[in-house]
Amino acid sequence: MLAIRGGERVRTRPYPEWPVWNSEDEELLMETLRSGKWGIGGKKVGEFASLFASYQGCRYGVACMNGSVAIKVALQALNIGNGDEVVTTPYTFIATASSIIELGAVPVFADVEEGGLNISPQSVEEKITDRTRAILPVHIAGYPAEMDGISRIATSHGLFVVEDAAQAHGSEWRGRRVGGIGDLGCFSFQSSKVMTSGEGGAITTNSYELSEKCWSLINVGRTRSGDWYEHEVLGYNYRMTEFQAAVLMAQLRRLDQQIEKRRRNYEVLAGLCGELEGFELIPPPGWASRVNHFLVPIRINRDFFGSVDKRRIVEALRAEGIPSSPGYTVPLHLHRPILSYLKARRGDSGLGVLRNAEAAVRDVFWLPHYVLLGSEEDVMDIYQALVKIERHRGEL
Ligand SMILES: Cc1ncc(COP(=O)(O)O)c(C=O)c1O
Repeated sequence: MLAIRGGERVRTRPYPEWPVWNSEDEELLMETLRSGKWGIGGKKVGEFASLFASYQGCRYGVACMNGSVAIKVALQALNIGNGDEVVTTPYTFIATASSIIELGAVPVFADVEEGGLNISPQSVEEKITDRTRAILPVHIAGYPAEMDGISRIATSHGLFVVEDAAQAHGSEWRGRRVGGIGDLGCFSFQSSKVMTSGEGGAITTNSYELSEKCWSLINVGRTRSGDWYEHEVLGYNYRMTEFQAAVLMAQLRRLDQQIEKRRRNYEVLAGLCGELEGFELIPPPGWASRVNHFLVPIRINRDFFGSVDKRRIVEALRAEGIPSSPGYTVPLHLHRPILSYLKARRGDSGLGVLRNAEAAVRDVFWLPHYVLLGSEEDVMDIYQALVKIERHRGEL
């Protein structure tokens, strides 16, 4: 189906498939299968957690089932619970907030930066109360949050910082990889991510004590030296399997090369798109010394396109053969299940206006990272499709 009556589709060949895997993944998987050690007793989960932590520039790493659990366990390790407030961003996946809610704590939403997608430190500061215990910034799209401001606020108010780095494997803030800038960092290896084992998660930290607490919470409250049926705290089984760790080891080996490829292709795309009137590629922030380009966020220029729904633009792009997503369609401070929770919890009838986050949800759509894993010609096709949509804006 052609969304736009503009003749031939710009692109007929598929983009590179995701996930990428090869004989390395196969060998590691077969090794695991043959070992018969698929869970406890295997060594790969622990090895992968350490390897990944050092890749992120952190001393300690703990692997777990998924990124949602990683956030929940990280907060729990800081003893965040009933009624504690955690300031976070509304421009994120729901798991950022639902992990807070799982603990009986309260997500408090700060706005994002004007023109950007990351949480605004100024807005964070305005949301702090005497119940605030932590700040939970998200390195959205693989773009690091403004950690200078966040760290300063955390220090001056005595708050913890937990980084939601679910989308930011390999990304750097001022030369430091994310995940170890705050107290704890949380990663996801769910299917769409730049490293994946289908599902999976990890927590990174520079604190031995916190890493052991997380390990225990993920391992039904055991301690490494305790007896099998000794449970120091109330934890759950949130463990990663050896199969996941095997695939992730192979994925980690090719991550740098893929990030470099995406960086080069992104530069080509940004160069081409600079002259577009209807679209603006949201650039990585100035403090980002490296981004993984998990998403290519694109803002629709409303002076050019008027009020056309971003979903129409994404449909048109897909019809031209370009993989794309509308991205988040409701900011979390307006999300019904979250509002119901907050209402039941403390009688909030609405969380007010967060202008920049609401604009981002209205105007920003995404391209997935794998469109940047191909050739320059592949990148050119994205540009041609955007040009075509601009030309046919009246038909959207
Ligand atoms: C920003 C963000 N936080 C948390 C998560 C949760 O991770 P998972 O799906 O592995 O539970 C995701 C991704 O899915 C995410 O994008």
